[in-house]
Amino acid sequence: MSKYKAAVIGLGNIGLMYDFDEKRNHPSSHSLAYTDSDNFDLVFCVDSDVEKGKWLNKINHRAYFFRTIDEAIKCGYANDIDVVSVCTPPDTHFCILSELLEKKIGKVVFCEKPIALNSKEAKKIKEMVEQYNVKIIPNISRRWNVGLRKVKDTVQNQRYGKLEKINVRYTRGIYNTGSHLFDILEMWTGTEIESVEALDKTITTAEPEPTFSFFFKMRNGVTGYAEAINDEQYYMFEIDMFLTDGKIEMRNSGDDVRYFSRTSHHLFGDFMELKEVAHDGNLLADSCIMNAVDNISGWLKNGDSVLCSLENAIKPLYIAEALEKSFNLKQVVKVNYE
Ligand SMILES: NC(=O)c1ccc[n+]([C@@H]2O[C@H](COP(=O)([O-])OP(=O)(O)OC[C@H]3O[C@@H](n4cnc5c(N)ncnc54)[C@H](O)[C@@H]3O)[C@@H](O)[C@H]2O)c1
Repeated sequence: MSKYKAAVIGLGNIGLMYDFDEKRNHPSSHSLAYTDSDNFDLVFCVDSDVEKGKWLNKINHRAYFFRTIDEAIKCGYANDIDVVSVCTPPDTHFCILSELLEKKIGKVVFCEKPIALNSKEAKKIKEMVEQYNVKIIPNISRRWNVGLRKVKDTVQNQRYGKLEKINVRYTRGIYNTGSHLFDILEMWTGTEIESVEALDKTITTAEPEPTFSFFFKMRNGVTGYAEAINDEQYYMFEIDMFLTDGKIEMRNSGDDVRYFSRTSHHLFGDFMELKEVAHDGNLLADSCIMNAVDNISGWLKNGDSVLCSLENAIKPLYIAEALEKSFNLKQVVKVNYE
């Protein structure tokens, strides 16, 4: 069977370089995922930094390297690309997506999160998708993680009772980590964040985007609190969900999920306590990027349903904007999803 043709724009961390970090499980980048996939040929990559071409050559001898998309077009490699990954910084996404769509490069555009800088750009992207009839799949990577998707079923089947409260600790920005955080909360709870109240601003290496501590309320009445931690000290992404009959903890950015059940208290006769009953560990060894690339080829081949939608990437932008507004106005703000 002939393979699908792929291209990658941007060969920084997620585009390529993560796979030269010895601590990362392979593949962790778009370029290596296409290279290792039986379903794809990586035809070309683009980066404005010529040095990246040398690194690309270390994992794939056949893929061509260009400094601009136009160079790839002029050399005749861009016409019949099936999937093109956009792995450049967020402030370039709108411009590069527009260029790809207008020049009809790729049947599918697999774009890194955050999909755009703000909801205004995101709305224009939605309009362009309709105009050019192209599928845009955002990479909110945890959507493709099997262990983290299991949490969704566990919460929604009420295996540990009804969800009541959520606690979050996070670093690195309401747009950056926010795109993962807000999406995972919606994926797990099956409901949207209705309102937010920003409290403190915390230092982050993701600046200029802010990192706030904040309260939130979901449409089903569940309330939560997110504590922003200074990532100059350490990186953190943790979620606790308190349910009527137990608790679910996500630790280590999603590498570990621990399940706790309600049981009689080991010290006090009239109280109950929580006891760990299951632990799913090493979850991020399941290569999200490889699973995503498999899912995309399944969609191309068989029309499989895609696990992450454009809407999943746009909603976090609305929540981040509500947080900024709340911080400036010093009041609770309803998230405007329109
Ligand atoms: N899904 C995830 O878990 C995940 C993880 C890391 C990064 N990301 C996202 O991926 C995107 C890139 O992040 P990164 O850390 O890889 O960035 P990076 O700065 O490491 O790499 C960006 C690369 O794009 C190149 N570039 C910039 N503008 C360009 C242009 N106009 N044309 C061609 N090349 C250009 C740069 O030279 C650089 O090599 C961001 O949106 C980030 O949020 C997502």
